[in-house]
Amino acid sequence: MDLAIELAGMKLRNPTMLSSGILGISSSLLNRVYQAGAGCVVTKSIGPVPRNGYSNPCIVEVVGGYINAMGLPNPGVNDFLEELTELNQLNIPTIVSIFGEDETIFAEIAKKVAEKGALGLELNISCPHAEVSTIGQDPEITKRVVKAVKNTVSIPVFVKLTPNVTNIVEIAIAAEKAGADGLTAINTVRAMAIDIYSKIPILSNKYGGLSGPAIKPIAIRCIFEIYENVKIPLIGVGGITCWQDAIEFFLAGASAVQIGTGISYQGLSIFQDICNGIRKYLQSENYSHLSELIGEAHKA
Ligand SMILES: Cc1cc2nc3c(=O)[nH]c(=O)nc-3n(C[C@H](O)[C@H](O)[C@H](O)COP(=O)(O)O)c2cc1C
Repeated sequence: MDLAIELAGMKLRNPTMLSSGILGISSSLLNRVYQAGAGCVVTKSIGPVPRNGYSNPCIVEVVGGYINAMGLPNPGVNDFLEELTELNQLNIPTIVSIFGEDETIFAEIAKKVAEKGALGLELNISCPHAEVSTIGQDPEITKRVVKAVKNTVSIPVFVKLTPNVTNIVEIAIAAEKAGADGLTAINTVRAMAIDIYSKIPILSNKYGGLSGPAIKPIAIRCIFEIYENVKIPLIGVGGITCWQDAIEFFLAGASAVQIGTGISYQGLSIFQDICNGIRKYLQSENYSHLSELIGEAHKA
């Protein structure tokens, strides 16, 4: 069965994507992800200038996943453009994740990567351990950023939402009203781990973001809630490790899924396994296309 989808105007060979920040920005690595079967790739978040990120330790394994506080290390948009050129030469459909302090910076970066041929943009307004988190916690600032980017580029713009708010629907609606073409949910869940002998938080930044299977029920709940309140397509992310998880996201209302931490458990074969599992499930449940499954859990 063909799993090809059209998502906010982007034609993808299947609904699986690499999520942002998991395997960096290098064209050779992202090419491997695409060759392994992902429908497209999302880059590590790119900011206006080079940034080192936080010092070690910046990731710790916990039950059900990892807590990370990388601090958005990246080479800055100008250096990144070379990688983007290579990604285009290799024909890798690439969504570029971007971040900045305010709407002007978001728009400047958006312009540069759109001119160099990015398939789409994902606005990271949601990293729980960096300054951008404050954008995604405020509907008015979210609107400003989305409007500025939408006024600057014509490629599809996805807004990545944080679960670290009282009401994620409020932010989703603000992004939609400002013209977002789609939403990605969720970024990591603000978290902490403490070493019982040194008696201090393990991460150098103290706080980090929890990813992996532990957050999947939170992500499913977020997608379910958002789906009932917006019309634009949703990309589900958070704790996907197998095809059954992906199906759960589709039933909740996601049109596509991203995989991050799951890659560290299984490697890049996860994309093909998930696609194969989706195909078999659709056949055995008598669906003729994936689109028929999206949001089915809302009929209950
Ligand atoms: C090490 C690490 C780095 C990440 N970096 C980014 C990033 O740069 N930008 C972003 O939007 N999300 C980032 N994320 C969040 C993931 O894209 C994803 O939303 C989150 O990990 C939940 O999905 P998962 O449980 O499949 O990993 C990062 C996650 C991890 C584990």
